[in-house]
Amino acid sequence: MSSAPRSVDPDRLKAFSKQVFGALEGAMTSAMIHLGDRLGLYRVMADAAEPMSSAELAERSELHERWVREWLHAQGAAGVLDYVGDGRFVLTPEAEVVLANEQHPAFGCGLFSSLPNTLSVLDQLPEAFRSGVGLDYDAFGSEGARGVERGFAPWYRALLVPMALPRIEGLVPALETGIRVADVGCGGGIALIEMAKAFPRSEFHGYDVSKFALERAEGNRKEAGVENVVFHDPREEPLPDDGSVAFVTTFDCLHDMTDPASVMRQIRGAIAPDGIWLIADIKAKDGYEANVEQNPMAALMLGTSVLTCMSSALSEPGGLGLGTLGFHEDLARHMTEEAGFRRFENLDLGHPVNAFYVVRP
Ligand SMILES: C[S@@+](CC[C@H](N)C(=O)[O-])C[C@H]1O[C@@H](n2cnc3c(N)ncnc32)[C@H](O)[C@@H]1O
Repeated sequence: MSSAPRSVDPDRLKAFSKQVFGALEGAMTSAMIHLGDRLGLYRVMADAAEPMSSAELAERSELHERWVREWLHAQGAAGVLDYVGDGRFVLTPEAEVVLANEQHPAFGCGLFSSLPNTLSVLDQLPEAFRSGVGLDYDAFGSEGARGVERGFAPWYRALLVPMALPRIEGLVPALETGIRVADVGCGGGIALIEMAKAFPRSEFHGYDVSKFALERAEGNRKEAGVENVVFHDPREEPLPDDGSVAFVTTFDCLHDMTDPASVMRQIRGAIAPDGIWLIADIKAKDGYEANVEQNPMAALMLGTSVLTCMSSALSEPGGLGLGTLGFHEDLARHMTEEAGFRRFENLDLGHPVNAFYVVRP
């Protein structure tokens, strides 16, 4: 029995089509941003600091003018670059920060650099929808690990040591004296390396299950020339169970884990009686409605969850599957308490995306 056709309002149809094609436009603009970053075009425009023609940009980038011209047109039409007339485009100071200044905490090209890798799993996801089992971070290859690293590194480089750590009572003097530190879910190790450079008397241990992240972390360590950092795969070398770690960090990873409760219990076993655990995780709310109402980036985050975070958190049968917006403050309080922690403080560090919790036994 077929149901009666539903009537379609032509104005709403037009508006809805516009919305859907706007999403496709965003995908194309994202691809252009990926190319601008990868080809060094933003860097060249930032160095020039004045409007450039396609011929000038192509010459300085050693690329073909026709391709550069079409890219400039696409970026101008999208409002990423400003068109100043006479075939010339400019990178505004704000665009320079986001697109070309990797040392600035607002640098944003990192997640665009791994976009092809993030999307490369699309062919595997229909099967994940059927089986329920997702893909871990290694599904995105080495370039995927580099993208995650570049996505988070600017904040660690600019703000972790000078701004965030001094806000935690008693921590900096202990780090200066010399303590054992563990970063669980350390990715490419940038946070740990920044801390290791600042506190040479302390010893730093990074733990991650991604072989590509661990490879990058060791490469980053060598490049930084620091000797007080060691990286481990926790399946082979678990956290110590002797209360010897005075400071533990978990940055943007608990919601990606298949069994975060077990990792929390391991952290409880590792941490000193007067130890400190700093959690950074997405400023999520409890429930779909609250997230959509209060988070203007909810659609971006929920899509990211399907492609990466929830997929990782379901990458083993029985995984908890929290996902990008799944680890909200109430859950964080409840789960850390269940793991044996008694004190929980929300530390507002003014981060646009992350909440920070200081947890103690
Ligand atoms: C979004 S990335 C964050 C990486 C890093 N903390 C950063 O801020 O750049 C999440 C990381 O958690 C790691 N991860 C997932 N489950 C883990 C587990 N059970 N133990 C350790 N690391 C895990 C993933 O491999 C991935 O590198």
